[in-house]
Amino acid sequence: MFLTLVGRNCSGLLGKKSRLVRNALILGVALLVIVATAQPVGAQKVELLVDASKPGAKIDRNIFGQFAEHLGHGIYDGIWVGPDSTIPNTRGIRNDVVAALKTIKVPNVRWPGGCFADEYHWRKGIGPQRAVTLNPNWGGVIEPNTFGTNEFMDFLDQIGAEAYVSVNVGSGTPQEAAEWLEYMTTAQPTTLAKQRAADGHPAPYKVGFLGIGNESWDCGGNMTAEYYLSQLKIYSHFVRNFNPAQQEKQQMLKIAVGPGGDDPRFVDWTQTIMKAYQRHSWSWDINGLSMHSYTVGKWPPSYASVGFGETEYAQILKYTLDMEELIDKYSAIMNEYDPQKKVALVVDEWGAWYAPLPGSNPGFLVQQNSLRDAILASLNLNIFARHADRVRMANIAQMINVLQSMIMTDKEKMVLTPTYYVYKMYVPFQDATFVPVTFDAGVYTYGDVTLPRLDAIAARDTAGKLWLAITNVDPNHTAEIEVSFAGTSAKSAAGETLTAPKVDSVNTFDAPNTVVPRPITANVQGAKLTLKVEPKSVTVVSIVQ
Ligand code: AHR
Repeated sequence: MFLTLVGRNCSGLLGKKSRLVRNALILGVALLVIVATAQPVGAQKVELLVDASKPGAKIDRNIFGQFAEHLGHGIYDGIWVGPDSTIPNTRGIRNDVVAALKTIKVPNVRWPGGCFADEYHWRKGIGPQRAVTLNPNWGGVIEPNTFGTNEFMDFLDQIGAEAYVSVNVGSGTPQEAAEWLEYMTTAQPTTLAKQRAADGHPAPYKVGFLGIGNESWDCGGNMTAEYYLSQLKIYSHFVRNFNPAQQEKQQMLKIAVGPGGDDPRFVDWTQTIMKAYQRHSWSWDINGLSMHSYTVGKWPPSYASVGFGETEYAQILKYTLDMEELIDKYSAIMNEYDPQKKVALVVDEWGAWYAPLPGSNPGFLVQQNSLRDAILASLNLNIFARHADRVRMANIAQMINVLQSMIMTDKEKMVLTPTYYVYKMYVPFQDATFVPVTFDAGVYTYGDVTLPRLDAIAARDTAGKLWLAITNVDPNHTAEIEVSFAGTSAKSAAGETLTAPKVDSVNTFDAPNTVVPRPITANVQGAKLTLKVEPKSVTVVSIVQ
């Protein structure tokens, strides 16, 4: 392409000799470009050592959590179509979406926001008459409140997930939040419990996780760390979970607002909360500190989610690896005040945030989801797994139709994204025990971007089976993998790979199977497992010992 374009522009101006010189020059430049941007063609050999004799932390299933905000078509159309819809539904909730989410065993869903949470007043979303309000954060559209507390709990029940409820600290009151929890969780015949029964649910709900505010340093109220801390103590004390089953066994985990990216002010924020936690009394407590970090590139989001090339592929994947540094940075601060790691780092908003799709409402955060996003998801999940001792929960943003979603819908149509398939392939890693893998990743270079060519994690699932996930970031070279084992052996192996023709390949309503996992062959000979992983792919293998 480069040669053709340059040749055409110049040919009329030059004689035969000059053309020869020119062509030689062009060839030289082209060769330089090729050498600078690509490795020689051919498979790359990588040796992995899976050491099952040194098991690590449990990879908490909650790192595969989801986030569903009242934003664009995340809730309305994505989950809720209403009982009178012609789209097949159960009590207003889409059957196709429920079936898809059950398959990936969603452990928890964070709701109702995001920024929306700090403007949400729960009473407007219960009972037969719903107040019609506005959604000023996200396009200023009508919020019908037809999806409220009971619909959310019904949805969770249908997909088998736990509730992560974010209460309104920004524009609500501790009393409003406390009453919401009483409404949801008490088994005693209080007025609020009777109201819940009248709304169709006599038994108390379980609320596994409580988010105390959202980005309180920004859309959640622009608070200083000290001001937020005073609010945190009040909400942590008064917003109680009364569910008798939870009081006996697993308490509700309370999650405080933590840092959002790399801005220096978040060092002070994190220190303020963690220092206070170290001296906390019986009357307030936290179990998690949230961290938000999106893969954006630069703000406002301008990278295209489809129709991009290798440059943007390499750049975005480079940006996404910053997650590891951020986790290390904030974990180090947490370690100072909580060396026993009682407080989890909860990455409850993460994922790729690109430019809105042309023609969409910019407030709805609609983007496509490509093979690049599948690779990005695997790299982040691997980072969380490697930090499983501190990172015990994460919520990708957002579950349906918003940002890096699992599912896209359009009226009665539904399509599963490449990211969805990574979550499906990683199901065996939920609650599995981390097993160290060592390897020389090598490098993948494109233009001025260099990043590790390969990534891998391993884990032993709750039934004792060993699993290996390998991401080949390099879009141009197959990796020939040779796996040795310590502390275990391999008899056979089977797996599947997710890849596609192009770095920006997507699934669409018309072509839903462009990026779907396909079986691969893995050979075990002697003590070694060998397999070839395709360029730009995510592979998960189960190993029979
Ligand atoms: O996920 C979209 C928005 O990003 C959330 O509402 C907010 O918490 C964050 O800034």
